[in-house]
Amino acid sequence: MARSVKDPVEQRIAALRREIERHNRLYYVKAAPEISDRAYDRLYRELADLEARHPELQTPDSPTRRVGGEPLPGFRTVRHARPMLSLDNTYSRDELAEFDARVRKRLPDTPLTYSVEPKVDGVAVSLRYEHGTLAVGATRGDGRTGDDVTANLRTIRSIPLRLAADPPPAVLEVRGEVYMTTAGFKTLNRARREAGQAVFANPRNAAAGSLKLLDPRLTADRPLDAVFYAAGELDGIAFETHGACLRGLDALGFRIVPRYWICDAFEAVLRRIDELETLRHSFPFEMDGAVIKVNERTLYDALGLTARSPRWAIAYKYAAEQAATRIRAIRVQVGRTGVLTPVAELEPVSVAGSTVSRATLHNEDDIRRKDVRVGDRVTVEKAGDVIPAVVGVDKTARTGSETVFAMPATCPVCGGPVTQREGEVARRCENLQCPAQIKRWVRHFASRGAMDIEGLGDALVEQLVDGGLVGDPADLYRLTEDQLAALERMAQKSARNVLAGIEASRERDLWRVIFALGIRHIGARSAQTLEAHYPSLDALMQADTAALEAVPDIGPVVAHSVAAFFASPRNRAVVRRLGEAGVRLQRRAAPLPAGGADLAGKRFVLTGTLDAFTRDAAGDAIRARGGTVSAAVSKKTDYVVAGANPGSKLERARTLGVAVIDEAAFRDLLSE
Ligand code: IVH
Repeated sequence: MARSVKDPVEQRIAALRREIERHNRLYYVKAAPEISDRAYDRLYRELADLEARHPELQTPDSPTRRVGGEPLPGFRTVRHARPMLSLDNTYSRDELAEFDARVRKRLPDTPLTYSVEPKVDGVAVSLRYEHGTLAVGATRGDGRTGDDVTANLRTIRSIPLRLAADPPPAVLEVRGEVYMTTAGFKTLNRARREAGQAVFANPRNAAAGSLKLLDPRLTADRPLDAVFYAAGELDGIAFETHGACLRGLDALGFRIVPRYWICDAFEAVLRRIDELETLRHSFPFEMDGAVIKVNERTLYDALGLTARSPRWAIAYKYAAEQAATRIRAIRVQVGRTGVLTPVAELEPVSVAGSTVSRATLHNEDDIRRKDVRVGDRVTVEKAGDVIPAVVGVDKTARTGSETVFAMPATCPVCGGPVTQREGEVARRCENLQCPAQIKRWVRHFASRGAMDIEGLGDALVEQLVDGGLVGDPADLYRLTEDQLAALERMAQKSARNVLAGIEASRERDLWRVIFALGIRHIGARSAQTLEAHYPSLDALMQADTAALEAVPDIGPVVAHSVAAFFASPRNRAVVRRLGEAGVRLQRRAAPLPAGGADLAGKRFVLTGTLDAFTRDAAGDAIRARGGTVSAAVSKKTDYVVAGANPGSKLERARTLGVAVIDEAAFRDLLSE
């Protein structure tokens, strides 16, 4: 049925989308929000509810539709309407002067200016908007064709799904760089290391890897952002200068390079390049140089192209933040999941203002490829907040006393066998009893984000495992005060405190237990998802891979990992012993009210989207049974009903220990 233009629902939806897009721009692009998160949530919820009730009004460019559905089988190839060129590079000011001379020679007597802006070290992308709507987003590829990564790019909140223009141009192609924030990169790598996954060498690789994931739901979890600096094909819009282009992109809702200068004279270009370098660490992305462009876009055709780069632009690269030093030794660390990581012990050296004495060598392949030997003079590089890495070897400095490093065939901690799983670069100690693994496992189990056992620090875990008192997390619950008090540096009082911490952890939420078990790929978020679908650890243990994959937001890799974890007799035994020790292995739920559907006096808070109810319908159902619905979670709240994509209310409920129920439990409660 065709809707008339005046349909009030349709109008409201359109108004909400415009409003939300504006707030998205203010929040994600300008970092200057005008409304509270709560007020934003309200708008978003209203839109999501309306769209749920009127699926015929749903459109792919709605701000509610950023994270797409199913994983893709592969990426489509797309041809860029205009080739994505690369830039000529130089480290030398003389060559910059030659660039200027070449430009002026080709355009004698033509007044021109230059722009200077950061060279963003990320992954180049091109976004194509047709009639104002994001149609395709692609990687650079070979410059003529790239991969269609639209679904992944849509998950980046600062990328507009619709242009802020009325009427919009028929075609607008923008070019820019997707990057991972330095802070986000650190957090991601820490989580990956703890999960036994390979870490990314630098933010650029992490951004590239994240853009190439076939499941956009995984990409949505990666701390990606984007910044734009050029235009491709344009129809219905034109920019005379590069400055006008940047201002135009800004007005259309894009995040543009955070600084740029227009310079009349070439001397000014050099000054701005120096000024930009001092700002190197003030940007949220890594910057490896300055890009100098002729500002007058109208002169581009006259200047033309060389084989692969335009004659109207050049990149000036800043020296990397590197230093030379010597490798004293290569040690091998063993992670929680048994992954062996080689680490270079260096003669301490100062890089970018801090002293570096260790650097990662990533894995054996990397060492082989670079032919790194113990005793070598090497170059170490520090990029932003990243762990220093050995990036090069000075082979001319070899004396012959250097020794080739080989990964140990046995675990350096327990002497157990080391294996390499198919398709993985990492080598692992497969001995589940390896003290290195047990220590990390127990530390993870007790950590703040997991079981939160106060007083159980690294030094104590070390002693407990080395002393044979603890061989897995379940053993913690059998410790006695005397055993603890007998340890070094442990008074009777602190022994009692540790026991109290362990005691308190018996009552943690189910998701914390799931997370604490240290299942590969399971972080706090996915543990919460699992808790929402499985009322007990028993139920989760029974689930097979297919059942787990059917859980929204749980992909095949995670499903397989969970099933594999519980297939292990040892892990099942740990779970059984945790249960015997009185650790709560059920979802925390308030007792159902007597009299079934009588919810008199019960206070509810709703968060997230429910499948079978709109917000209003859920509220009506609660009130019809005598309950009340409030907007905020407090200690007085009896139930928080959490649907898909719950907001901060869920977190708050967990903090306050309020019962959280999913839609199935909510339905049961209503029909009781
Ligand atoms: S302009 C033909 N501006 O550097 C010029 N590129 O080595 C089109 N890049 O492929 C690009 N920051 O991915 C331009 N401010 C900036 C840039 C930038 C980073 C990348 C871009 C390009 C590569 C060339």
